[in-house]
Amino acid sequence: MGDARKIFMTGATGVVGRALLQRLAGDKRSAGRNMPAVTVLSRNVSAFPESAIRAVHGRISEPEAWLPQLEGCSEFVHMAALTGKARARDFERVNVEGTRSVLEACKRGGVRRFLFVSSIAATYPEHDAYPYGRSKLEAEALVRTSGLEWAIVRPTIVMSRRAKIWHSLESLASLPLVPLFGGGGARIQPIHADDLALGLEAWLQDPTLDRGEYDLGGPEVLTFREFLGRIQRRKRGSARFLPLPGKGAIAMLKHVEKVALPLLPMSAGQLYSFVYDSTARPNALQERFAGSMRNVDAILDDLLKYG
Ligand SMILES: NC(=O)c1ccc[n+]([C@@H]2O[C@H](COP(=O)([O-])OP(=O)(O)OC[C@H]3O[C@@H](n4cnc5c(N)ncnc54)[C@H](OP(=O)(O)O)[C@@H]3O)[C@@H](O)[C@H]2O)c1
Repeated sequence: MGDARKIFMTGATGVVGRALLQRLAGDKRSAGRNMPAVTVLSRNVSAFPESAIRAVHGRISEPEAWLPQLEGCSEFVHMAALTGKARARDFERVNVEGTRSVLEACKRGGVRRFLFVSSIAATYPEHDAYPYGRSKLEAEALVRTSGLEWAIVRPTIVMSRRAKIWHSLESLASLPLVPLFGGGGARIQPIHADDLALGLEAWLQDPTLDRGEYDLGGPEVLTFREFLGRIQRRKRGSARFLPLPGKGAIAMLKHVEKVALPLLPMSAGQLYSFVYDSTARPNALQERFAGSMRNVDAILDDLLKYG
């Protein structure tokens, strides 16, 4: 028997979205037989040549164009977001106002259940120089008061061969002298994108997870320094570490980026995860999968499989 549900997604071309689509399509043996009908909203529909997925061209900020496509959709997974280095007003426009538009569309389109993929960055103790984290926090508040059946998942650092953050960390670990903002003592809990997809799929299948907020990380907590050291050892490197101030660098970049953001290799906000812990607080979803998720060595086995 196939799955009769219709699911709508934003952000399906991203690292997390790709992993979720793959998860829903199932392994080759089931060949997508049980896959629910999935419609994705994207500015790049050519990324979806597969006929099993219906791709609708559009932007989250222009819901009138895709509202009719919501008909009959029971679940909405909102993953689209501006990430990386960008201006505060753009984070606000895409991540806050975009989420507001999407929620309004869901209400008008009769969607019942809404999953918001937020970020562990929303849990940092302050977001003074971190507009991305602030935008996720603000969007979460809109989701909670939307009147829909909602859930919020906050991934920690997501690892995949497609992830820009992975390539940045791999390059960082390969330097002869590795700069460690904040001394590298901040704790992280890397999660493989495929394991995150497992958690998102669980919400699709289990309405008892509604009205819940779930930090989601892998089974292992380690410091940034330890993580970079493990990457180094895998690559047979023996670099030394150069501890640098974290909060001081954030304060300095915060001022410089007002006039020179495009010229900077990173924004103040991108240093936050070197300063504050990015670990998942215990919750039902985390506990459900902690035993089966890949630990750091297994993640690195996968990411470094091809050199
Ligand atoms: N990767 C991580 O380490 C991590 C950690 C914590 C939380 N998250 C969250 O997980 C979600 C997915 O992250 P990701 O790493 O998969 O992102 P990603 O690889 O950067 O992809 C971003 C996605 O957002 C879509 N998007 C961006 N702006 C859009 C707009 N204006 N209208 C429509 N779609 C737009 C893009 O779609 P198109 O270009 O196809 O239109 C793309 O699919 C995000 O909400 C992110 O904040 C990620």
